[in-house]
Amino acid sequence: MDNETLTITDNRTKATYTIPIYRGTVRAMDLRQIKTGADDFGLMTYDPAFMNTASCTSAITYLDGDKGILRYRGYPIEQLAEHCTFLEVAWLLLEGELPTRDELENWNCEIMRHTMIHENLKKFMDGFHHDAHPMGVLISTVAALSTFYPDAKNLGDTKCRRKQIVRLISKMPTLAAYAYRHRLGLPYIYPDPDLGYTKNYMNMLWKRTEPKYAANPVLARALEVLFILHADHEQNCSTSAMRAVGSSNADPFATAAAALSALSGPLHGGANEEVLRMLDEIGTKDRIPAFIDQVKEGKRKLMGFGHRVYKNYDPRARIIKQVAEEVFEVTGRNHKIDIALELERIALSDEYFIKRKLYPNVDFYSGIIYQAMGFKPEQFTVLFGIPRTVGWLAQWQEMLRDPERKIARPRQIYTGEDRREFVPLTLRGVHDRELTFA
Ligand code: SDX
Repeated sequence: MDNETLTITDNRTKATYTIPIYRGTVRAMDLRQIKTGADDFGLMTYDPAFMNTASCTSAITYLDGDKGILRYRGYPIEQLAEHCTFLEVAWLLLEGELPTRDELENWNCEIMRHTMIHENLKKFMDGFHHDAHPMGVLISTVAALSTFYPDAKNLGDTKCRRKQIVRLISKMPTLAAYAYRHRLGLPYIYPDPDLGYTKNYMNMLWKRTEPKYAANPVLARALEVLFILHADHEQNCSTSAMRAVGSSNADPFATAAAALSALSGPLHGGANEEVLRMLDEIGTKDRIPAFIDQVKEGKRKLMGFGHRVYKNYDPRARIIKQVAEEVFEVTGRNHKIDIALELERIALSDEYFIKRKLYPNVDFYSGIIYQAMGFKPEQFTVLFGIPRTVGWLAQWQEMLRDPERKIARPRQIYTGEDRREFVPLTLRGVHDRELTFA
């Protein structure tokens, strides 16, 4: 459409520019032509934390934050959570279509064939303290995979790239389970491919001396749904890290370790662990109002609430609330859900939260389920990282295939000192400003 343009007048020069509008955006590079003179670098955009910046085009996940919509490759998350297995969704995210029966059967076999890890990785894992945080163990061991698979650097070889994708998806549960067993001082349990992806993960976590682990089907399905809900979420912090690090052609294991590091932050994937700590601190319903007051005074954050994109209820939180009741049928009710429900009820009727459009996000209820299933809070973010690895890999692969891809290298607004002459040590006086490292 011809009128898909902006006309910009630079009041400094009275010059006008016609800038094309591209899919609801303007290309930042189109602003570079706006100069005050030949020596002027030209205009850039300034957008700390990328509040209003699209970093890429993507066909994988669609979010509508105002309507609370989440779709993977066009399919509503509610339908995928109800009808699919996690590996079925993994195929969808990576390939763009739901798999046929044969494709899914072959995919299941291929993933389950690569669940073993090199025995030396166990020695690596044994080097951690017994109380090492599982995310630190996982970040380190995922990065270590790049030393076992040097062919992973051959990013131009499509078949080789696909092999690494399969390896990482397959081995994440094994590494995560071994980190869990190491923390408890229990022997590692080898993968059992017959069980399938999620039940095998439970097997490697919880098998004791029985000849074959039998997963509770309700808990296995609940974990499968939680994996589906956490699989991808467009350009969140950890996916952005995956794309940025991957843009340097780092191998997928080192790149995924960077994404895991981003996910570990309490403002991102680490929030589910913080929600449980917050609920434990509140303790009882009668102490909720005092906590809410602290939040409104800016002294605390209501962990598990708020989202950069969702300014409505996170559709995943709604599904997780339903899953919680199914899990409690098996495990017994985790009464922290009653505190969480009361906290939600109070928050959603309070002007502070309404004005800021703060609703429960994916992390608000997930930890309560994980705890009821027997996981400790420090495991919760690992449970986020296992499925999100599929999303990271799908986004990484899309980035590698993007004809516009270049190494990620943002610019800056320089606010430092102008040119100044060196001062010899003997002539240096006391600084006229407070130092940050002193
Ligand atoms: C995930 O991006 C993704 O898609 C992430 C994720 C995914 O699947 O990958 O969905 C997973 O990370 C979910 C978010 C988990 N994090 C938490 O639950 C931590 C608590 N939430 C907040 O820290 C916060 O809401 C963020 C980090 C999630 C979003 O932060 P924004 O978008 O930068 O919003 P903001 O900090 O600018 O907040 C806007 C206002 C501020 O108040 P004012 O300064 O305007 O007065 O809302 C307030 C904030 O103080 N606010 C909160 C709050 N979140 C925002 N106040 C109290 N409690 C909160 N949780």
